[in-house]
Amino acid sequence: MKRCLWLNDHKVIREAWSNPACCGRPKMQGIVDRTAGFLGGIIFNEGQDFKEQRSFTVSHLKDLGLGKQCMEGVISSEVDTVIETLVQTKGQPLSTRHLFNVASLNVLWGIISGDRYRHDDPALNNLVESITRNMELQGGAMVGFFIPWLAHWFPNLVGWTSYLSDANKVFKFWRQFAKRRIKSFEMADKGHGPTCFVDMYIQHVKQCKSLTSSFFGDKGELSLASTLQDLFIAGTETTSATLSWLMLHLAVFQNYQENIYQEICHVVGDRKPSLGDRRKMLLTEAFISETMRHVTLAPLGMVHCTTDDVDLCGTYFIPKGTILHANICAAHHDPSQWERPHHFFPERFISSDGSKHLQHDSFLPFSFGKRRCPGELLARHELFLFLVGIIHQFSVTIDPSEIEDCLKPKLGVSATPKPHLLEFHQRQ
Ligand code: HEM
Repeated sequence: MKRCLWLNDHKVIREAWSNPACCGRPKMQGIVDRTAGFLGGIIFNEGQDFKEQRSFTVSHLKDLGLGKQCMEGVISSEVDTVIETLVQTKGQPLSTRHLFNVASLNVLWGIISGDRYRHDDPALNNLVESITRNMELQGGAMVGFFIPWLAHWFPNLVGWTSYLSDANKVFKFWRQFAKRRIKSFEMADKGHGPTCFVDMYIQHVKQCKSLTSSFFGDKGELSLASTLQDLFIAGTETTSATLSWLMLHLAVFQNYQENIYQEICHVVGDRKPSLGDRRKMLLTEAFISETMRHVTLAPLGMVHCTTDDVDLCGTYFIPKGTILHANICAAHHDPSQWERPHHFFPERFISSDGSKHLQHDSFLPFSFGKRRCPGELLARHELFLFLVGIIHQFSVTIDPSEIEDCLKPKLGVSATPKPHLLEFHQRQ
């Protein structure tokens, strides 16, 4: 039996997540089994291997433009592809469930491998669907994480068999991808240095001489597969589900949609929206933040565990090996921090004189501290460019009979929207 603690207040979460001893990851069966026992990469790694993988990945992705203005072109071309799809619907009802998956995957794929996928590529759509099912923990697979004996004895009943089959499919995809790329790297002309993350990583593996490093030899190859899998799992479904939530909120809160459209007309006019517009579009930015607070995509963040005994806030003694959950949903709805927390009110993110975006201590959609999401800036850029690009050209509506229920999330690892249909009407 494992000791498990929920941190329900933003001050406690911030203090805990700043302490390296609270930033381990527990070795739950469902986590170990998804990558055939190998716990490399970033998300489920800890200790020296984790430090190596995270710092190599973050610094090289930054060099390649992660979260920087130069990503604008890549994101904009994905926005254009989504807009083409919306034009083709001619205002007919459309499910946004898969609309943004391939687009957000392609943005990452661009800097990571230097390639781009067609939105209707069957192999890619297969992969994306497996990732989505895995994140949603369909068929009750969540139960398996907390009551492992149920998953062991009744794997079909709690959806464990299909959870593991999807997880293994995704890991196999990345292992084969890593193998192929290592082979083509070995055969390639080395006249010029590597230009994408995958090749930089492979070069590092080839040059690594330290037997204890996670980049060394076969472990380096597996670490590459794991790190790529982590980036895509963490960066694709999160961004695309947040975009679906944004579209749904725009459709439900028509008054905000109209005001955002007016803001776009005022700041952007007839040209293409750009990241430089962000700081002038306070309502749009506030709407994005408020949607993230209101729905809290990762209600319990990602599970942590203590790697040592910890004294938290000078009051709580937490023994080594305790599982920790940040209750981000509670922090986002804490009545001592937010007025009418269940009310959707983007203006809470705008200063009273209307001049700036307000930060809130209790706003933690990307978590905090040593494990804070490294993709935050990229995600923020994507959310802005997709929202503004779409609302610039379309109005979004939902059948009024669906409004009452549609903002209640479907719970898995993340809180995603339930199936719903939206209509995108091209503006004249
Ligand atoms: C709206 C979009 C996103 C949201 C809401 C989000 C949220 C989060 C959260 C809550 C965590 C858990 C942090 C913790 O353990 O305390 C996390 C981790 C992570 N995210 Fe994101 N994320 C988003 C987009 C992205 C993108 C685009 C990338 C790709 C670069 C990314 C890469 C990661 C990685 C690699 C981790 C693991 C970090 C670690 O274990 O040290 N995320 N994210």
